[in-house]
Amino acid sequence: MKKRIFIPGPVELAAEVLAAQAQPMMGHRTPDFNAILEECWDGLRYVYQTKNDVAIITGSGTAAMDAAVSSVISAGDEVVCIGGGKFGERFPKIVSAFGGKPIDVPVEWGKAVDPSEVESAVAGSSAVAITMTHNETSTGVLHDAKAIARIARENNMLFIMDAVTSVGGEDVKTDEWGVDICITGSQKCLAAPPGLGFAAVNNRAWDVIENNSGKRGFYLDLASYRKSLKKSTTPFTPAVSLIYGLRAALSIIRDEGLENRINRHRLLAEATREAVLAMNLELFADPDYASNTVTAIKIPAGLTDDDVRGRLNSDFGILLAGGQESVKGRIFRIGHMAAVDAVDLLGLLSALEIVLAKAGHDFTRGAGVTAAQSRLADL
Ligand SMILES: Cc1ncc(COP(=O)(O)O)c(C=O)c1O
Repeated sequence: MKKRIFIPGPVELAAEVLAAQAQPMMGHRTPDFNAILEECWDGLRYVYQTKNDVAIITGSGTAAMDAAVSSVISAGDEVVCIGGGKFGERFPKIVSAFGGKPIDVPVEWGKAVDPSEVESAVAGSSAVAITMTHNETSTGVLHDAKAIARIARENNMLFIMDAVTSVGGEDVKTDEWGVDICITGSQKCLAAPPGLGFAAVNNRAWDVIENNSGKRGFYLDLASYRKSLKKSTTPFTPAVSLIYGLRAALSIIRDEGLENRINRHRLLAEATREAVLAMNLELFADPDYASNTVTAIKIPAGLTDDDVRGRLNSDFGILLAGGQESVKGRIFRIGHMAAVDAVDLLGLLSALEIVLAKAGHDFTRGAGVTAAQSRLADL
C-alpha cells in the first residue's frame, strides 16, 4: 500500500530534494561548498524575511532551541517562558538545564497567550529574555508573535522564538517584528530532510551572545557559528548531504514564491477547518488563532484514536499525528504543510469521511469534502 504522511513533520520530500542528497560527497572546506552554503543562507534569509545572519546547525530543531538559550543566558538569569503546548513548555526545561530560572506564563492548551499576562510576568521580574513557540504544533495554535516581540523590545529583553512549524508556511516577519533569535528546523515547512536546525540572529542578540561566548556549551555556542559565517563556512563539519537537500528545497520555495506559499498554506488550512466542522467534528484550537500548518481535531465522543488514525493508517496508508501528553488519545492532528496540495488534502478528507462513517460517527457523508472543494476552488 502506498504510504502518505500528513504529520506536522517530517514531511514528504520532492524528488529533486531526494536526488540532491544522493550527490557525491565534496570537501566541506572548499570554495565550491562555500558557494552552496551561501545559496542556502540566501534562501534562508528569504523565508525568514530577514537581512541578518542565520546559523545552520547540525541537529534537529531542539538543537537550535538549545543553542539559542545556552548562548544567551547566564546561570541565575530569569527568562519568561510562554507555555501552551509541548514545545512552548520545552523552553523552561532548557532554561533550567543551563542554570537559568524560568518564569512560566501558563497558557491553556488550545488557547493563545494573552499578551497582558506576559506583560505582568515581565513587570515583576528581572528577566533577560522571553521565549515562545510561534506555531504550537501540539495544539494547532498560532500565537501573536508581533505583540510578544514588542513587549520584549520595550522591556529591553531578547525575544527567542521557536518558529519550527511556521517559517516557510506562515508569514514570519523576523526583522519587522523584531524577533531577536528565530529558530526553525529543516523537516517542516521548508520541506527538507530532518537533521538541520536554524537560528536567525539579529545584532541585539549577537551583542549578548558574544559577551557570553565560551561560558557555557561548546558545539552549540552561536558565537562560533557567526565567526564561521563571516568566512562562508560552518564551525564544524556540516551534514553535507542534508545541505544539498536543503539547497534544493529552498530553490523550490523560491520558485513557488513565499507569498504564494503562505497563501497556499492559508487556503489548505481554511479548507481543512471548514471540512472538519462540516463533518460534525470539533476543532481543538481557538479559531481566532488557528495555525495554517497544522490542525488539531477533537476525537468525537464514542470514538477512539484507533477508530480514526488507526483505520486511516491500516485502510489507506495515511499517517496523521496523535495528541501529545495531556491530550493524548483526545485529539488527532493533520499536518498540511510544505508540499501538501489541494488534491492531497481532498484525498485525505475523503478517506477520513469513509473511516468516520465506518466508525458510526454522525455526519452527512460528503459534507466535509464538499466544504473543502468550495474553499480550494480559490487555489
Ligand atoms: C513547534 C516545534 N518546536 C520544536 C520542535 C522540535 O523539533 P525537533 O523535533 O526537530 O527537535 C518541534 C517538533 O515537532 C515543533 O513542532
